[in-house]
Amino acid sequence: MTHAPRKIIIDTDPGQDDAVAILLALASPEDLTVLGITAVAGNVPLPLTAKNARIICELAGKPETLVFAGCDRPLKRKLVTAEHVHGKTGLDGPQLADPVMPLQAQHGVDFIIDTLRREPAHTVTLCPLGPLTNIAEAFRRAPDIVARVQQIVLMGGAYFEVGNITPAAEFNIYVDPEATEIVFRSGAPIVVMPLDVTHKALTTRARIEGFRAMGTEPGRMVAEWTDFFERFDMQKYGSEGAPLHDPCVIAYLIRPELFTGRHINVEIETQSELTLGMTVADWWGVTDRPANALFIGDLDAAGFYALLTERIARL
Ligand code: BDR
Ligand code: CA
Repeated sequence: MTHAPRKIIIDTDPGQDDAVAILLALASPEDLTVLGITAVAGNVPLPLTAKNARIICELAGKPETLVFAGCDRPLKRKLVTAEHVHGKTGLDGPQLADPVMPLQAQHGVDFIIDTLRREPAHTVTLCPLGPLTNIAEAFRRAPDIVARVQQIVLMGGAYFEVGNITPAAEFNIYVDPEATEIVFRSGAPIVVMPLDVTHKALTTRARIEGFRAMGTEPGRMVAEWTDFFERFDMQKYGSEGAPLHDPCVIAYLIRPELFTGRHINVEIETQSELTLGMTVADWWGVTDRPANALFIGDLDAAGFYALLTERIARL
């Protein structure tokens, strides 16, 4: 049976792994219609994430994609960035030319609000791959859109893996915990890709060489990006490769059967200095707090990389 492609908005802070996620989405028109891409401050400041998003669309051969700049800082806090992982540009690794395609004039948050109001209710899925500032700001300014969201599938948080930017917190949540709290308390249906699953989506030499062997520009870029940022995780964790975090979100939309998780309650720590941004996930069901998210714990890594390779090779 064929289904109409699912309509998505990708909210992102590219980032090499964001870039691979965007390429996967743009390479999958039978599954996904990318209504627009909203950039947010995160891995690097907003001017760079807005520029990087356009570099990626051009690389995918989709310069007609609508790219918007959203919020340039978290709701209440100073921006924390991650150049130590992604490099100064956010997309360090290969040489990249400046994009030619335009940045849309509309603010990313207004685009999210207008799109959710315009499209039929429950037909638009939000895909946050960075801090949740744009999504929370849209919900705060236009509470009527919350009930219209089909699903939010986001990369962020951790339970068993605990943290990466601090001992207790994952980067996307840590950067804007107040925004995360707004989203998790909104009542919108949420699927979470925490470090618990993304740390199982590891690159290997063979997987990276598979991208390079495509002999295409996108294949070469994916290989060079993963080469660049895997050094960081390999040094840190002693693992064979690096986790491709953000593509898990897009892969879930295309092949949900590759993933397993639990419907549980997830609360966000917004007060403690020590554990700020922690995702307190009731995986073991030890509270009676109501479930507010499907928290993913495992994936079929071979199936995930097979999908990624098949789709990136099309570009
Ligand atoms: C997340 O933080 C960013 O550095 C990555 O792009 C990913 O979204 C992983 O913690
Ligand atoms: Ca990201």
